[in-house]
Amino acid sequence: RGSCPCDVLFIGEAPGKDEDRTGMPFIGRAGQLLDRWIEDVTKETKRFTYGITNIVCCIPTETDERTGKVSVRVPTKEEADACRFRLHTTIEHCSPKLIVMLGKTAKKYLKIPKSMGVYNTFELQHPAFVLRKGGANSLEYKKNLIYLKEANENLDG
Ligand code: URA
Repeated sequence: RGSCPCDVLFIGEAPGKDEDRTGMPFIGRAGQLLDRWIEDVTKETKRFTYGITNIVCCIPTETDERTGKVSVRVPTKEEADACRFRLHTTIEHCSPKLIVMLGKTAKKYLKIPKSMGVYNTFELQHPAFVLRKGGANSLEYKKNLIYLKEANENLDG
């Protein structure tokens, strides 16, 4: 969701239940925190256009054979590989000045081949992790805010 082309492209992990229901990335609690993060940064520095997507676009789930309970899990390498063409196409269309990898899964699976050109990338903690640490009042939130603010200030143009 968001703008394409954009100055900053945020890449998360995979849709959660809210995102799976609506087909929009980051619209649940983690997404609301991400929106607030972006809003807080732009209040303090210059505005930037942004898009938001995920490493994979289908919700990865597993079913407990004993109880039948379905839970959300981290995407596998095979799933990330299967979604890579879509992700690379999104990156090329958005042509961002900066790619922000949200969390470890994004960092692990975002592989940009040299043939696509050079993109600035950096990692922030995943908003769901920051939520678990206390959300917008946590030290993590403030740290990530500063990193994003600095990165935004260094965007050329
Ligand atoms: N977490 C993600 O990584 N992506 C979403 O879209 C929602 C939650």
